[in-house]
Amino acid sequence: MSVTQEIKSRLDIVDIVSEQVNLRRSGRNYAGFCPFHTNTRTPAFYVFPETQTWHCFGECSEGGDLFSYVMKKEGWDFREALQNLAKRAGVTLDEPDPEAKRRRKSEEKLVDLLTTAAEYFYQLLLFAPQAEAARKYVADRQLNEETISTYRLGFALESWDACRTHFNDQGYSDEELLKVGLLTENPDRGTRYDRFRNRLMIPICDVEGRVVGFGARTLEKDGVPKYLNSPQTALFDKGRLLYGLDSAKRYIREAREVVIVEGYMDVMQGWQAGFRNMVAQMGTALTGDQLRLLKRYTKRFVLALDADAAGAKATMRSLQVARDTLDREVETRFDARGLVQHEGRLQADIHIVTLPEGYDPDKIIRSDRDRWPQLLDQSQPVVAYVIGVATRELDLNDAKAKSAVAQQVLPLITDIVDPVEREHYRQQLARALRTDERTLRMVSLPQETGRSQPSGPPPPPPEDHFPPELNGIAPKTKKTAPSPRGDKRATNLLRQCLEYPRLIIQVNRSLMRQEQQSIGEEDLVIPEDKLILDIIYDRADQASVVTIEELCDSLDSVLLERVETLVALPVSPESELSRLPDRLAMSILDWRLAQARTEVEQLQQLSRGAHSQTELATSMAQLYGPRILELQVKIKWINKAKDAISASGQRRAEQGIDR
Ligand code: UTP
Ligand code: MN
Repeated sequence: MSVTQEIKSRLDIVDIVSEQVNLRRSGRNYAGFCPFHTNTRTPAFYVFPETQTWHCFGECSEGGDLFSYVMKKEGWDFREALQNLAKRAGVTLDEPDPEAKRRRKSEEKLVDLLTTAAEYFYQLLLFAPQAEAARKYVADRQLNEETISTYRLGFALESWDACRTHFNDQGYSDEELLKVGLLTENPDRGTRYDRFRNRLMIPICDVEGRVVGFGARTLEKDGVPKYLNSPQTALFDKGRLLYGLDSAKRYIREAREVVIVEGYMDVMQGWQAGFRNMVAQMGTALTGDQLRLLKRYTKRFVLALDADAAGAKATMRSLQVARDTLDREVETRFDARGLVQHEGRLQADIHIVTLPEGYDPDKIIRSDRDRWPQLLDQSQPVVAYVIGVATRELDLNDAKAKSAVAQQVLPLITDIVDPVEREHYRQQLARALRTDERTLRMVSLPQETGRSQPSGPPPPPPEDHFPPELNGIAPKTKKTAPSPRGDKRATNLLRQCLEYPRLIIQVNRSLMRQEQQSIGEEDLVIPEDKLILDIIYDRADQASVVTIEELCDSLDSVLLERVETLVALPVSPESELSRLPDRLAMSILDWRLAQARTEVEQLQQLSRGAHSQTELATSMAQLYGPRILELQVKIKWINKAKDAISASGQRRAEQGIDR
């Protein structure tokens, strides 16, 4: 039995949910008001003791197991959930891998060093006579004592060895200081000296609030670089961190929205002014990792871009780059196409707002606090924003320029998962270009050939989150019940994608061509698999891919166990690779079909059960009717997509073409 199974077997989801939700018995199950959305009329939240799962049949239309419940409720990541639930269940999480244990130990020691260093710099800023100018600088930027203390701002002395000597005296070796980047080495001369000198020190924390690095601002006017950051290490990986998230996470959940800004100062100033759901991307392009990290707290992201990063030229340039390099992650600060793709994958809602020329949030908030929320109110969805920017200065009499804009914006539109939304933007672009949609459809996009256009806009696929374990409840559906260790189709997908890192992108293309959702967490049952999917997406994004062995080295025992199980399964030979994306897309569609059908049966049963309790009967019918219809439409569209995929496969086979 795996650790998660062991934990689940010892805890009862009904007990845990009852601690926060008032549950009432309803037949064999329990119902209550959903803790994830506000509704006080219909108890749409169900807990199923037999399968130890939950599901909200209301607004959320989401469900899962004990792990997903506590992760969502507490905002925990998998590991936090694991640790907390293990403790509760009295299960000890052992680390059989001594290597991993050793790594964690040394990592802890480095975090300790960084935490101590942050405290050392903080004390210097507060009290050192040499920090007079730094204190004045902070005061000039209107950061108050409380903010300085919350973010543990500090000061590094103007010295080549003050920091080194201080920590050597405390028992830390030069090697450790080098490792965390407090010390720099000149490789030619072999000399070592303090990296941070005469700078304002800003500790950067991970999501749990552990100090993992520093951003250090020059105190000299026009000093270069303006911000000197800790070197990239396993601990400090800018693409996986967001400045301020540790303090902001609760407020993000409360506000149901996160505002992503560029810089450290913006976050601190926002905090001080009471805008606390802010994090900073620290001057780099937003990565999939960062968005996934945020998605634990909210699905709604607002990107506040400064005029320079978001300006018309930069936007068009980044679109061009994104197009040329297909879907490789591009190092621009604003990669619109990447965002649209992430949006689809994460089922997120990304909005953009541009700041007035020459202003950043720090400056805006300081000059006119009320202006900030007003600006945020003007945010636009990514694609609407890009259409606006791209057509703003367009000469509508210039046919070539119009065509160029169409070429640049259309790929973004084709990436939109939801067909209704996609049609909406196609129309919007057509209007902005004073052309019609049919003409736009004829614009040929190099990498988009072969894309089949379905006739007429189909309805959007409803979100599907129904836990397949529910199969077990109804004896009638027992024969289709998947094993508790997940569905073998989804498992096979993960297996193949671990082998062929770019495969997941191709499978998604195959799905999206047929208006189907790309692969997401909802396709997976086992909590570990959801994390493995993240890893698969990471690997697909990376230019150089780590081998599976290297990957295994970096995993801890819980994930390792699952990856090893997956890796032991058979791999499709490379000769099959051209057909694999369609084949896997088909099998995932089969799996989604099975889930949707199970949910329909489940709903029908629940409503039958509810009729015996007249009190609930009406609201239940109201609740289930539309959902059942929705699911039936969905089933129809999945079947249609399957037909289209197999037809295109057949065509290719007849023509003897392999992609
Ligand atoms: P900005 O240049 O916009 O700086 O960079 P800022 O945040 O407005 O800083 P102030 O207000 O002049 O002090 C935005 C972010 O980009 C990263 C930092 O995270 C910064 O907050 N950056 C910028 C660096 O890492 N290094 C640099 O040299 C410059
Ligand atoms: Mn600034």
